[in-house]
Amino acid sequence: MKEIFPIDKFANLRTPFYYYDTELLRRTLDSIREEAAQYPAFSVHYAVKANANPKILAIIREAGLGADCVSGGEVEAALHAGFPADRVVFAGVGKADWEIEVGLKHDIFCFNVESIPELEVINALAEAQNTVARVAFRINPDVGAHTHANITTGLAENKFGISMNDMERVIAIAREMKHVSFVGLHFHIGSQILEMDDFVALCHRVNQLQERLESAGIQVEHINVGGGLGIDYDHPDQHPIPAFKEYFATYARHLKLRPHQKLHFELGRAVVGQCGSLVSRVLYVKQGTNKQFAILDAGMTDLIRPALYQAYHQIENLTSSLPKQVYDVVGPICESSDVFGKSVELSETKRGDLVALRSAGAYGEIMASGYNCRKLPQGYLSEEL
Ligand code: LLP
Repeated sequence: MKEIFPIDKFANLRTPFYYYDTELLRRTLDSIREEAAQYPAFSVHYAVKANANPKILAIIREAGLGADCVSGGEVEAALHAGFPADRVVFAGVGKADWEIEVGLKHDIFCFNVESIPELEVINALAEAQNTVARVAFRINPDVGAHTHANITTGLAENKFGISMNDMERVIAIAREMKHVSFVGLHFHIGSQILEMDDFVALCHRVNQLQERLESAGIQVEHINVGGGLGIDYDHPDQHPIPAFKEYFATYARHLKLRPHQKLHFELGRAVVGQCGSLVSRVLYVKQGTNKQFAILDAGMTDLIRPALYQAYHQIENLTSSLPKQVYDVVGPICESSDVFGKSVELSETKRGDLVALRSAGAYGEIMASGYNCRKLPQGYLSEEL
């Protein structure tokens, strides 16, 4: 039995559910604060998309992070959790009018704009509200990242951002408009990135672009380099806190920030990934033709990452300490891809055992769906049990 899980307190909770170790979340936030504080020009935002559980948002807001949002709903969730509007940024390749209006109404810090048609709509809606929207342009830096193809975003072939080559023209268009104010540049190359060299490549692109813009007489106040710092899915207990020191130092060393500039980060997974686990009960152990299956009451509707990205989550039996056996660990959903892990070594497992799928705090609960008319999993904080 693992000490970090209060198994006795789990007995009366309906499974599956998300369990968040808030002591670890707070230590993670302390580490971010401590490491970022070395660099006064750095400003860290939390990417709400990773986990918008209101109780988690409240803890992150208390730690003083800003909020990075990608929908009107996220802007509302962030404001509701108490993030100050002047620390809220709003990105997204397809912002609907009502979503832009939510941002305008609350005078959020910045819209990260991804196309000229979007800029025109923001300008028109801001005019209708008799206000001026601060905008940054999301630039597609054409930098690859060593991560899963579905979560790399900064390549020319991806739908995100505006080509670097068009920047002077796009900035000139913005400057002609009366209801937008151009304040910055925004980048994001992908997610679950563990090689600092990928971030170094981004820094070089930013440096190149800055030099080019400066020679055209364009100064930028804010640079936003997005998120993407990965976590150790293989060893959650050995590496519960991501490499924030190295991450911030990489940007400090390689990105040539001008004296007046602020550098913004939008970390999602690295903030909440390791503090969360999906806890599930074993429904059946079934002997197949040549393997045995542990069938859980959690499925891909509760945690879709393995089905969608072939993502690995460490699986542990919390209630058995018998010798290990090998199982395919699967869910109850009517889809062959509803598999959490193949040939997983688990302590001998029987009906009623509790298992934890680790490192599920990011893109877990928030991506849950009601497919098969399933109930959405609840989320519990360690401190409330
Ligand atoms: N900023 C922007 C513009 C983004 O698109 C993202 C993530 C982030 C920040 C935060 O990235 P992070 O620090 O969490 O890597 N559902 C996928 C991940 C999708 C990430 C989408 N964008 C997964 O479960 O792996």
